[in-house]
Amino acid sequence: PKLHRRTSSAAIFKVSSSSSPSTAICSVPTEPIEGQKTGTSGLRKKVKIFKQENYLANWIQALFDSLPPEDFKNGLLVLGGDGRYFNQEAAQIIIKIAAGNGVGKILVGKEGITSTPAVSAVIRKRKANGGFIMSASHNPGGPEYDWGIKFNYNSGQPAPESITDKIYGNTLSLGFRYHKVMLSILSNAGGFVITNLNGGIAIQISEIKKADIPDVDLSRLGVTEYGNFSVEVIDPVSDYLELMEDVFDFQLIKSLLSRSDFRFMFDAMHAVTGAYAKPIFVDKLGANPDSITNGVPLEDFGHGHPDPNLTYAKDLVDVMFGENGPDFGAASDGKGGVVVGGLGGRSTTRLGPDKLVASGGATVAASGGATLALTGGCIRSLGGTVGKCSTEVPKEEEDGGSIGDDGSERGVGGLDEVPCGGDGDRNMILGRDFFVTPSDSVAIIAANAQAAIPYFQSGPKGLARSMPTSGALDRVAKKLNLPFFEVPTGWKFFGNLMDAGKLSICGEESFGTGSDHIREKDGIWAVLAWLSLIAYRNKDKKPGEKLISVSDIVMEHWATYGRNFFSRYDYEECESEGANKMIGYLRDLVSKSKAGEKYGNYILQFVDDFTYTDPVDGSVASKQGIRFVFTDGSRIIFRLSGTGSAGATVRIYVEQFEPDVSKHDMDAQTALKPLIDLALSVSKLKEFTGREKPTVIT
Ligand code: G6P
Ligand code: ZN
Repeated sequence: PKLHRRTSSAAIFKVSSSSSPSTAICSVPTEPIEGQKTGTSGLRKKVKIFKQENYLANWIQALFDSLPPEDFKNGLLVLGGDGRYFNQEAAQIIIKIAAGNGVGKILVGKEGITSTPAVSAVIRKRKANGGFIMSASHNPGGPEYDWGIKFNYNSGQPAPESITDKIYGNTLSLGFRYHKVMLSILSNAGGFVITNLNGGIAIQISEIKKADIPDVDLSRLGVTEYGNFSVEVIDPVSDYLELMEDVFDFQLIKSLLSRSDFRFMFDAMHAVTGAYAKPIFVDKLGANPDSITNGVPLEDFGHGHPDPNLTYAKDLVDVMFGENGPDFGAASDGKGGVVVGGLGGRSTTRLGPDKLVASGGATVAASGGATLALTGGCIRSLGGTVGKCSTEVPKEEEDGGSIGDDGSERGVGGLDEVPCGGDGDRNMILGRDFFVTPSDSVAIIAANAQAAIPYFQSGPKGLARSMPTSGALDRVAKKLNLPFFEVPTGWKFFGNLMDAGKLSICGEESFGTGSDHIREKDGIWAVLAWLSLIAYRNKDKKPGEKLISVSDIVMEHWATYGRNFFSRYDYEECESEGANKMIGYLRDLVSKSKAGEKYGNYILQFVDDFTYTDPVDGSVASKQGIRFVFTDGSRIIFRLSGTGSAGATVRIYVEQFEPDVSKHDMDAQTALKPLIDLALSVSKLKEFTGREKPTVIT
């Protein structure tokens, strides 16, 4: 059909449909496909798999088969993504199937781009029924790499497991489902639940309902109408920016960013926050245009650029951590690691005598000034290569050594070609010569939010962290006398608490920080929060007066609350069998150990496999991580990652509280050494996984 342009101010393109007021729907026959189970953050596979006939279409259809009709019929959905390869093609498929299933309207970000937090913001602002996010987060993008899709519900939060399990059930054949359920009952494997079987609603996918409409031009803002279905291409930034202006005092931030004695650096890593960085930081807040690096979102997030060589990476390190480095550096998730000379940052990197800077690719996925940006996620997807490099973690530098040296020792070739992705939900905060751990970051934001951020002017309602995140936030909650919650790993667990008005600020050790302004973690929000804190503390400083720095703020916080030393060791791509056996062994210890037992110098307070009962809906999540908690508050935690894409990733989290100010500038790895050794011996990790060293330390 031909498009007619209406002569109105808002661009409305109408598909001629005078003869047929409703769009023609065709039924495309299909077969069930195995393996479409969603992980912590949606369905993630290689692009090649998604491109197989009906692979994506099946999942989308299964989703509509799973939702109650009132959640989408004639409803409004949002569609966005991180700009990665295949998004444009996928958007057309999703739009047609949505129309075919009776959705009324879809709002889609221009070129299919909208960051994860912005999708959440748009869903809430426009009162949509839900939305799709086309992203594989920090996994690499491009024809050879990863693609992913996630569905968020009407308050902007990731769909609960009851829905994702149902979708998965609907992608399978009835026979397969029966088989799996029997298997899970027989092996008591746990964690494998197909909820809709119990309800008896078994829909074996057999057809895809698709509207017979042309591809939508995603490059042009405006509404296209197809009978009773329409698509509106929206500016991905404006709703989100409006929200940020409501949350923060932009004048205050502007007063900081326009100072000549404050230098700011934001690295968008060629991922989706590139679309947001200039309009927000430069156009609105007056930051120098040069302060944004890698600001153009690319389909492969800048594949092959910048040229990875040790010298270049070292230069970048020198920028952030050198004599005259910027005062504040931040990044949101994007292409990681490439810059680090191909070493992928799969280790701790110490950038200064007492500055532990870690890295961690999979987790960091981006980096302040690109320098720390590491790449776990990218490496992970390399299959063979990973195994090779993952056992070769370089020894740490004792004297502020450089990343470059790490890279050469490691000699991991080929990683330079690997791009990473990013949907803008994570953040990393750096000061000059200083790395703020995500666990500290959320605690410090929470402690200062009421003063510095208008959204929290009557005080946060409550605080929460994921279980493995350090207890720094707990101390703030206690001091401010706020309700506090400890949830399992996964942002989705915060949503109910927020909807119930019990939670305002939360964070995870995995570089996620956010609040109830939306229902996702939010990279730009975290950066704006930190800028607000710094601006607030310096608002009366005259030109030439020394500013209170990021490290001053953190050290002060530690002096007030004590320091929670924290570190995470990742062992990526372990053989699943060994990793599962290790977890089994630890679970066994849980049942055998008793309070009061001695573990080296530590006395056991309790050990358990973390279970969370949602205080709002009473739902229970069990087997969320094995915790050894000692009488002095120190903790060792073991989990298997729910986001790894190959093999099993073992994560060990260690934490120790230190009230003594004179010990606060100790290196975290040094402070935690006894606990780390204890964790390794208690778990017999080496024995079970064959791993000598972690692949990532954060
Ligand atoms: C994603 C989730 C986070 C989670 C992180 C690590 O980013 O949104 O909630 O903390 O992955 O999860 P994992 O299961 O790999 O430790
Ligand atoms: Zn992300």
